[in-house]
Amino acid sequence: MKIAILGLGLMGSFYARILADRLGPANVIGVELDTERAEAVARQTGITTTDDWRGLLGQVDAVAVTLPDHLHVAPTVAFLQEGAYVLVEKPLATSTEDCELVLKAQVAPGRLMVGQLLRFDPRTQELKRRLDAGEFGPLRYVKVWRANPTSGAARVGTRVGVSAFLGVHDLDLLMWLTGRDVVSANASGRKIFGDHWDISVACLELDGGLFAQVENHWLIHPAAQRSCLAGVEVFGEAGQALLDLSTQELEVVSDSAPITRRVDTHNWTFDEAMSGGNLRRELEAFVRAVERGEPCPVPGEEGARAVRAVELVEQSLAHNS
Ligand SMILES: NC(=O)c1ccc[n+]([C@@H]2O[C@H](COP(=O)([O-])OP(=O)(O)OC[C@H]3O[C@@H](n4cnc5c(N)ncnc54)[C@H](O)[C@@H]3O)[C@@H](O)[C@H]2O)c1
Repeated sequence: MKIAILGLGLMGSFYARILADRLGPANVIGVELDTERAEAVARQTGITTTDDWRGLLGQVDAVAVTLPDHLHVAPTVAFLQEGAYVLVEKPLATSTEDCELVLKAQVAPGRLMVGQLLRFDPRTQELKRRLDAGEFGPLRYVKVWRANPTSGAARVGTRVGVSAFLGVHDLDLLMWLTGRDVVSANASGRKIFGDHWDISVACLELDGGLFAQVENHWLIHPAAQRSCLAGVEVFGEAGQALLDLSTQELEVVSDSAPITRRVDTHNWTFDEAMSGGNLRRELEAFVRAVERGEPCPVPGEEGARAVRAVELVEQSLAHNS
């Protein structure tokens, strides 16, 4: 199969490495406006590159959209209408209206997938298995939290708020784990660095009256040992679970580099020798669906549901400010 990766930035370059390894570099085409970046990824992975995705319509079996959030819709719609498989990085789009446009463009079922990376973590899969089996009894309260360093705010905080960028992961995780939709949100937060929300604390009601909280911020100090503080707590009538998602990083320090460095062994990895972790599992699930002509996991409808939940949180943040 031939696949195009649209956008070779942070995520697209990880995709390029994993997909070139899985499918062979000759079957992967990168699309990137920034020539230097395109050349660097081509050099590192052996893939070919171009600068306009329109020229690839009808030329590939599948597409991965790793463009900035606000640019997801046009190529996703165009490639879906061609009948290609499309994997869109989270969030599916930046509004419910745009999500509807994307969902309507599906000419064949099961060909749209949203990159909700946390669903490919073996620990969240094990927690879901236990929740589905009813191990903790009827649920009383679920808390999900995720914080990133201030560099996250500097990198993307000028174009998007923290609940849209990080919270979409946690809202999807909450709904996927519990099997329930968010019905309403009562959220408060703060804008610290600019015009977008940098702290968001949302109290949520899910179907059946389940109470939950999702907390997001990007206030971790740049020199902190951990670049992510995240987790899930589940409390039920018959039991509870705590999943610490803060780190599975390898911390290294040596005479030649006497500052502790973190090697991500879990999500997408920065070390050639590492497996690619959750992202490799996510891309493998997508490639397998394309190769077998089967429906993708994480359907577009569930990506749209997560965007709707973000909108509920952001509306409440604005209302309560
Ligand atoms: N799953 C995760 O944990 C995770 C983490 C970070 C980002 N993301 C998501 O991944 C997506 C990409 O984020 P990123 O951080 O990699 O962004 P980025 O800014 O690092 O990369 C985007 C790239 O797209 C290129 N680009 C822009 N317009 C283009 C066009 N028309 N044609 C070709 N190239 C174009 C830019 O030059 C840039 O290199 C976003 O949707 C983001 O929310 C997901």
